[in-house]
Amino acid sequence: MWVCLAIVTLIFQNVLAIDLDVTSKDSICDATYLIQDGILDYYEGTRYGGTVGMFQSPYYWWEAGEVFGGMLENWYLCGNTSHETLLYDAMIAQSGTDYDFMPSNQSMVEGNDDQGVWGLTVMGAAERNFTNPDGNVPGWLYMVQGIFNTMYARWDDQHCGGGLRWQIFTWNSGYNYKNTISNACLFQIAARLGRYTGNTTYLEVAEKVWQWLVDVDYIVLSDKANVYDGATTDGNCTDITKIEWSYNQGVVLGGCAYMYNATNGSSTWESRLTQILGGSTSFFFNDSIMYESACQASGTCNNDQRSFKSIFSRMLGLTSVLAPYTAEIIDPLIEASAKGAALSCTGGYDGHTCGLNWQIGKNDGWYGLGEQACALEVIQNLLIHDMPAPYTADNGGTSVGDANAALNSTTTSVLQSDLDITKKDRVGAAIITAVILSILLGGSVWMIF
Ligand SMILES: *[C@@H]1O[C@H](CO)[C@@H](O)[C@H](O)[C@H]1NC(C)=O
Ligand SMILES: *[C@@H]1O[C@H](CO)[C@@H](O)[C@H](O)[C@H]1NC(C)=O
Ligand SMILES: *[C@@H]1O[C@H](CO)[C@@H](O)[C@H](O)[C@H]1NC(C)=O
Ligand SMILES: *[C@@H]1O[C@H](CO)[C@@H](O)[C@H](O)[C@H]1NC(C)=O
Ligand SMILES: *[C@@H]1O[C@H](CO)[C@@H](O)[C@H](O)[C@H]1NC(C)=O
Ligand SMILES: *[C@@H]1O[C@H](CO)[C@@H](O)[C@H](O)[C@H]1NC(C)=O
Ligand SMILES: *[C@@H]1O[C@H](CO)[C@@H](O)[C@H](O)[C@H]1NC(C)=O
Ligand SMILES: *[C@@H]1O[C@H](CO)[C@@H](O)[C@H](O)[C@H]1NC(C)=O
Ligand SMILES: *[C@@H]1O[C@H](CO)[C@@H](O)[C@H](O)[C@H]1NC(C)=O
Repeated sequence: MWVCLAIVTLIFQNVLAIDLDVTSKDSICDATYLIQDGILDYYEGTRYGGTVGMFQSPYYWWEAGEVFGGMLENWYLCGNTSHETLLYDAMIAQSGTDYDFMPSNQSMVEGNDDQGVWGLTVMGAAERNFTNPDGNVPGWLYMVQGIFNTMYARWDDQHCGGGLRWQIFTWNSGYNYKNTISNACLFQIAARLGRYTGNTTYLEVAEKVWQWLVDVDYIVLSDKANVYDGATTDGNCTDITKIEWSYNQGVVLGGCAYMYNATNGSSTWESRLTQILGGSTSFFFNDSIMYESACQASGTCNNDQRSFKSIFSRMLGLTSVLAPYTAEIIDPLIEASAKGAALSCTGGYDGHTCGLNWQIGKNDGWYGLGEQACALEVIQNLLIHDMPAPYTADNGGTSVGDANAALNSTTTSVLQSDLDITKKDRVGAAIITAVILSILLGGSVWMIF
């Protein structure tokens, strides 16, 4: 009787826990399907009355963008189409009337970083040749170009010598903060658009954003480069908040890898990439296992921060593909972290809910959308070398774009007409930006809508 019970318990636990063999694609994919089930427990879009493309409170819109980016990679790496329609519907539903990911529900509260993180996901759709939108809906590439155009139009030379602010709208607190993630997203989107389309204008913008991040010391280059969080316009961006988050480091890292690849492995970008990678591998790993060093040990990570290892993992994987010389450094870290993550996925009523801490060989009791997304991305990146690198328009990508995407949209049309007037008046570029900012962001225009 007791023996029998023990066996039953053993079998039961084996079914519940995530059993990961890092050398088997089937095992890796099966693990990620279970983890995605956990993700979808928080998904509103398939529930009666729920909003397509949104996760339940307290998970914000931006995090949905991050999570779908991970699920889209899973669609590609495991070649499983069961969530394809869900992903497709979610991205289209949140793309907004101008397809620039400024949906009206978010338009009062949206930040540049929110739009930017969605941009990385939609760029993934283009690069992974995800099912193209049908009918009158424009392509994923078009949408990313719309995101790029609207974000870059907010470049602000008037304070701190350039950069994007965190917030888009004056009425939101954080409007006076220029954060790294907003600018890192613009940097990476520009790099990816440049690599995908071959249009070097994007690469020039990426270079400019990078240069600004270095000029204001948000990025401090060395063998272990630092990537800090941001600073205020009131302090001319000298009052730097020196916290280091894996997602800031990761999005900068990924941008460097795309630039390295788009420039055919230029020594300039190799040196920058190597330095950022040195920081990435030093600050967010302990015994080769990934952790969110600024908050994890102290147990103070908020919902956003508990998801950062997700996008960080994605960026490490992409980097190892786009800059093959980094794979020997990155791959062992992904493997050790994936094993640790899988061992953390023994929590919850289902017995396979993932935890926050991957260093203890068991579940630590933390759970949520972020924990699931992080485990998903680190584990599926074990497969990153089994599939082709992100496509470009030349080698397999079929997404249709338009360099002028979203330039007709409600926000940018104000900008464009103003650009024309001021150009005629031969006013300098700095003044144009100031005028645009005051018209666009001053509130008066927006009160009309
Ligand atoms: C594809 O994913 C679904 C949902 O996660 C899963 O139930 C199914 O078994 C997977 N298909 C294969 C062939 O593994
Ligand atoms: C916008 O919010 C409303 C009310 O919550 C919801 O019904 C609608 O589906 C949302 N639309 C999008 C695109 O999120
Ligand atoms: C503000 O910061 C920018 C960028 O670092 C610098 O070029 C500019 O001179 C600074 N302005 C003032 C008034 O200190
Ligand atoms: C990279 O190499 C390709 C093929 O040799 C060439 O067409 C392209 O101009 C190069 N790009 C750069 C930025 O050097
Ligand atoms: C760019 O990425 C491709 C795909 O992984 C790779 O084959 C190529 O070597 C990379 N370019 C450089 C210069 O490393
Ligand atoms: C790093 O790992 C060691 C054990 O391997 C542990 O004792 C230590 O607390 C960890 N440090 C952090 C900051 O998590
Ligand atoms: C991309 O998708 C298109 C349309 O579904 C398909 O015809 C094409 O073969 C795909 N390309 C690759 C490289 O998979
Ligand atoms: C390249 O991109 C820039 C920036 O969006 C755009 O102005 C230009 O028209 C594009 N060039 C081509 C040939 O598409
Ligand atoms: C912008 O509007 C003009 C005039 O209505 C139209 O010809 C053009 O196709 C539009 N461009 C985009 C990218 O929607």
